Amino acid sequence: MDERVYFFDTTLRDGEQVPGCQLNTVEKIQVAEALEALGVDVIEAGFPISSPGDFNSVVEISKVVTRPVICGLTRAIKKDIEVAAEALRYAKHPRIHTGIGVSYHHIHYKLNSTPDEIIKRAVDAVKYAKKFVEDVEFYAEDAGRADNEYLARVVEAVVKAGATVINIPDTTGYALPWEFGEKIRFLKENVKNIDKAIIATHCHNDLGMATANTISGVMNGARQVEVTINGIGERAGNTSLEEVAMILKSRYKDLHFTSGINTKKIYKTSRLVSSLMNMPVQPNKAIVGRNAFAHSSGIHQDGVLKRRENYEIINPRDVGIKESSIVLTARSGRAALKHRLEVLGFKPDKKQLDGIYQKFLELADRKKEIKDDDLEVLMGTFKKEDRNIRLLSLQVIAGKSAIPTATVRVDINGEEFTSTATGNGPIDAAFSAVKMLIKRKVTLEEFLIQAITRGSDDLGKVHVEIENRGQSYYGFSANTDIITASVEAFLDAISKVI
Ligand code: KIV
Ligand code: ZN
Repeated sequence: MDERVYFFDTTLRDGEQVPGCQLNTVEKIQVAEALEALGVDVIEAGFPISSPGDFNSVVEISKVVTRPVICGLTRAIKKDIEVAAEALRYAKHPRIHTGIGVSYHHIHYKLNSTPDEIIKRAVDAVKYAKKFVEDVEFYAEDAGRADNEYLARVVEAVVKAGATVINIPDTTGYALPWEFGEKIRFLKENVKNIDKAIIATHCHNDLGMATANTISGVMNGARQVEVTINGIGERAGNTSLEEVAMILKSRYKDLHFTSGINTKKIYKTSRLVSSLMNMPVQPNKAIVGRNAFAHSSGIHQDGVLKRRENYEIINPRDVGIKESSIVLTARSGRAALKHRLEVLGFKPDKKQLDGIYQKFLELADRKKEIKDDDLEVLMGTFKKEDRNIRLLSLQVIAGKSAIPTATVRVDINGEEFTSTATGNGPIDAAFSAVKMLIKRKVTLEEFLIQAITRGSDDLGKVHVEIENRGQSYYGFSANTDIITASVEAFLDAISKVI
């Protein structure tokens, strides 16, 4: 029978703890709203006693985010718990997350205490938190290295004190997957009141095993997973939300676990967190890395073009990526070249393709990667007169204190049209003017300007990607005037729609 796994996201607490990843309250609200839309069940919004900024963020997130549980972290200290309860006062579903170290290292060398004293402090903290909220989660810090018999005693005592969720963190990322799974099973089988609480995993990635340990925990009885977007978090990070969500989805037939995650929003959320936190995602990161759906060898490209499943176990659309990419290099074959040319709007016959392929290989030997504009040049597409839509003239008003305004005159299938529009800059104004003329609903999906050399007299290369009725169209142009190049590139893409 299917069982539900609850997603507890700690991007805004464990993730935000990372040096350089700090967000202001407005940015945290943006992330929290994205997490709500993504479908997480619990958002750990911060550690309220740690700073006024954290306190305030928990308050503001509690006001805005209504569906998920909002959780605040504390140590097993009365003052922490009082401050967390105060920060959570507007939350529709508040949870206090309190806890203490339970491994030999933590008890003796960090807390300078004894095993029995730690149990007493844990129970007191849970009981105190229960005075403020019904939902209290207890974390047994460094449980990954703790003795299982002792851990079972701690868990039984805090469940008896009222804890609703028991978090078993592998704080130092030390556990092996089978070992971590056994720990969870041990608690399931040896804590007599364990049916009164949900067991959670919270795994760190010091040995690259956070996701494996989390899945092992779930397979052995845990039903809440504590994760972060892009796996950010202390040191080597936490378990990645996207990895666990896609494992449960892709291997549903074997595991039979469901979740509330709308996986189609994964990529967008990953980009948001990466850009707000200034934390790049490694290119080969599973699910969300730039290369996660990029195929570069000729054999793989040919295989994936014949049938995506030959080399992809996940449909990129399932995580919100429009399509896999075929990276054109000297190792690419004719199939990949033909495919890209077709995406760009060319339909070479077999003989033409043979000729172009030879030129492509010569160029690819000199350049590492062949981009769309290289292909355009190979195909000699600067013959813009062949197009059904051409730019005849463009006039813009721009500059400090001016309202950016553009007037475009275009020829569409032999007829001339003119329009004027304003925008937040000259390019935006010109694009709006063009849109008024074309009577098609197109959405700008990507817009990229690059310089070729470094001088101010440089040529600007512009790529655009637009969307019309669910299909993408690409346009390219180069000009010393970047506004003209932008409009030409936009028209190039539109001409493929028309
Ligand atoms: O890694 C850890 O043990 C933690 C706890 C505070 C839950 O982040
Ligand atoms: Zn942690």
